[in-house]
Amino acid sequence: MNDLDRQLTELQERFGAAVAAAPSAQALDDARVAFLGRNGEVTSVRRSIGTLPPEARPAAGKRINLAVEAMERMLGDAQVRLEARAFETELAQVVDVTYPGIEPPVGTIHPVRRITEQASAYFARHGFAVVVGPEVEPDYYTFDALNIPSDHPAREGFDSFWLTDSLLLRPHTSPMQIRTMQQHRPPVAIIAPGKCYRRDAVDARHLFQFHQIEGLLVAEGVHFGHLKGMLSGLCRELFGPEQQVRFRPSFFPFTEPSAEVDTTCPRCHGHLQRCGMCGGSGWIELGGAGMVHPNVLREVEYDPDVYSGWAFGVGVERLGLTRYGVDDIRRFINSDPDFLEQLR
Ligand code: PHE
Repeated sequence: MNDLDRQLTELQERFGAAVAAAPSAQALDDARVAFLGRNGEVTSVRRSIGTLPPEARPAAGKRINLAVEAMERMLGDAQVRLEARAFETELAQVVDVTYPGIEPPVGTIHPVRRITEQASAYFARHGFAVVVGPEVEPDYYTFDALNIPSDHPAREGFDSFWLTDSLLLRPHTSPMQIRTMQQHRPPVAIIAPGKCYRRDAVDARHLFQFHQIEGLLVAEGVHFGHLKGMLSGLCRELFGPEQQVRFRPSFFPFTEPSAEVDTTCPRCHGHLQRCGMCGGSGWIELGGAGMVHPNVLREVEYDPDVYSGWAFGVGVERLGLTRYGVDDIRRFINSDPDFLEQLR
């Protein structure tokens, strides 16, 4: 038994040395065959068990198996070591780590989102809360509560995608006026950005899905001048310090008086007669606005004799066309990386 021990220890040492010195996978395999192979050294030790007394044989077998296990571990470790070394050698040959890398293409914030965020930040700075509402609305919030009863011709201006008799994809963000006022007592100051849907034929100026930013301020003593001030500030923020805002008389059932909001063409400032952006008028249309109609205030149980307010709704893609000098609104939804990259 002592003899066997000594023999195996010596064998293991020699094997360890051979394995450590093996310069290649081939050399490693030669060592394996010489020691652990069918006609290898371990096999001859195993054969010698036959010369032992029968009662000593099982223990000797176990001892040999342990030695084999240890040797196989050595072999495995050496294999891993050799492979790692080979990989590094290969790397050193083919990879020049000083060579400039390939820049992976990274995305950008979409212009619609960027404008929404910038406008939201502007209003948040002025104390407005940013709220978001559902894109599927009952007709109550979309029309009735906004002073547009079901027989009102103004409904035709909102050619909508109806889901059921009373549910539709919202054609504007104005339902958020009602939702907000029903949940909060005045004063309220909110903006509500989000997606809107209309059954519009798609062209350079129209999409059937677009984004609006709704604004609403209701308190005591609020007047039209505040509205003009806030929208002028928004346009200066988005387009530059020279921007002006003008109102043209218009009609919305939920505001009185109502107005269309225009801003000075940021490309020609009204000076270029053949401006491609504003068509020479000097003004760009952004959306609708007005003083909240008393019927709307009454609907949400605000006393119109005490409170007054204004509201506006501007198209984000419209702001985008103006901001980036883009000629076709469809470019915003074409997922063209080159276009988005340009606006980065
Ligand atoms: N909701 C109107 C539209 O989409 C815009 C608007 C909002 C007008 C608020 C007045 C007040 O056309």
